[in-house]
Amino acid sequence: MDNLISLVNKIQRACTALGDHGEESALPTLWEALPAIAVVGGQSSGKSSVLESIVGKDFLPRGAGNSGYEVQFSSWGSVVNVLASNAGIVTRRPLVLQLHKIDETREYAEFMHLPRKRFTDFAVVRQEISDETDRETGRSKQISTVPIHLSIFSPNVVNLTLVDLPGLTKVAVEGQPESIVQDIENMVRSYIEKPNCIILAISPANQDLATSDAIKISREVDPRGERTFGVLTKIDLMDQGTNAVDILEGRSYKLQFPWIGVVNRSQADINKSVDMIAARRREREYFQSSPEYRHLAQRMGSEHLGTMLSKHLEQVIKSRIPGLQSLINKTIIELEAELSRLGRPVATDAGRLHFDKQLSLDNVRKLITEADGYQPHLIAP
Ligand code: GDP
Ligand code: NA
Ligand code: MG
Repeated sequence: MDNLISLVNKIQRACTALGDHGEESALPTLWEALPAIAVVGGQSSGKSSVLESIVGKDFLPRGAGNSGYEVQFSSWGSVVNVLASNAGIVTRRPLVLQLHKIDETREYAEFMHLPRKRFTDFAVVRQEISDETDRETGRSKQISTVPIHLSIFSPNVVNLTLVDLPGLTKVAVEGQPESIVQDIENMVRSYIEKPNCIILAISPANQDLATSDAIKISREVDPRGERTFGVLTKIDLMDQGTNAVDILEGRSYKLQFPWIGVVNRSQADINKSVDMIAARRREREYFQSSPEYRHLAQRMGSEHLGTMLSKHLEQVIKSRIPGLQSLINKTIIELEAELSRLGRPVATDAGRLHFDKQLSLDNVRKLITEADGYQPHLIAP
C-alpha cells in the first residue's frame, strides 16, 4: 500500500507542474482533492521540529522562539549572546513537502523552483528554503501565501505530503503590518479548511491547552475532530510536579484520534548539533523511563506519529480513489481540449509551453493508468 501513496504523490507533483504554467484549468481543484497533512499552531510551538522528526532529517530553518530574539550558545552551553533578529517568524511561506520512500541508500532533495537540481546536503536545503523565502518576501518579517515546493527522496521516510505553515500569532511585532495576525490566520485556514486536509494541531505542553492556537483554529474547521491529530510538544519542559497524562489520555480535549506526545530537540540541542537519531533514541527513552508515561510509551513519539499518519493517509486515499479518478479524467479531457485549441507546437515561448504541458499531461496519463492497477484492491470488501 506504500506504493499507492507514492503514486498519489507523483500524480500530485505532475499536476502541480501542469498547473504551474498559470492558465486557468481544473488543476487547482485536482490538487486540492488529494490529501495532505498540514501542521498548525502558535509560533514556536514546535511545528517545524515535529515535521523534521517525522522526516528524520534536519532541513528546516528553525527559530529561537517568538520573542524576536535569537539566543546564541557557546559550545559549552552557556548563553553568550542574545541578539535581535527575524528568528521569531522563521517559517514565512507555506512549505509543501513531499516525502518519497526510495530503495536506494542515498538521500536527496529537489525544489520545484529549481528543476533538475539535486540537493544532497540538507544544510544547503535549509539555506535554499530561507533564500527562497526572502526572494518572495524580502529579508523582512513579512509573510507570503506563495508556497515553496520541496521533495525529499529517502529510504528512511514514509510517503507523505506535509505542509509547514507560518505560526499563528496574537500580536504584530516591530516591522510587521498590523494585519499580519489576521493574514497568517487566513492563510492557515485556507489550507486546513479543505475537507481532505489532515490537520496536525501542535500544542506545547508548557502552555495551557485552553489557550492553544492550534486547537482553536482546528476546532473551527473540523469541529468533530475527524481529521485532526493532536500533537503535544515540549512535554520535557513542563513544570515540576505536573504532567500531560490527562491530555494524552483524551480527558482534557477529546479528538477522534488519540493524542500523541513528542519530545523534540531543545534549542540547546540544536545549537549543540544533537543529531536526529540520537534525538529519537532519547525521545523513546524519555517515554519508556518516566513513571507517568510508561504505560503510554508505545503510542508516543515522532516515529509513532509518522507511522500513524501514513496509515491514516492510506485509508483516506483508498476511500477517495474513485472520486479522484473521475476528477482526473475530467481534467485530462479539459486539458486535451485546451491543447488542441492551441494547435501544433511552434518554436516560440507559447510553443514551448505547449510542449511542456503535453509532456506533463502524458506523464499524468501514465500515472493514472498505474493507479488503475490498484482498482482490484480497492474494490475488496
Ligand atoms: P515553530 O515555530 O512552531 O516551527 O517551532 P520550532 O520547531 O521552530 O521550535 C521552536 C523552539 O522550540 C526551538 O528552539 C525548538 O528547539 C524548541 N522545541 C520544539 N519542540 C520542543 C520540545 O519538545 N522540547 C524542547 N525542550 N524544545 C522544543
Ligand atoms: Na517560530
Ligand atoms: Mg516553523
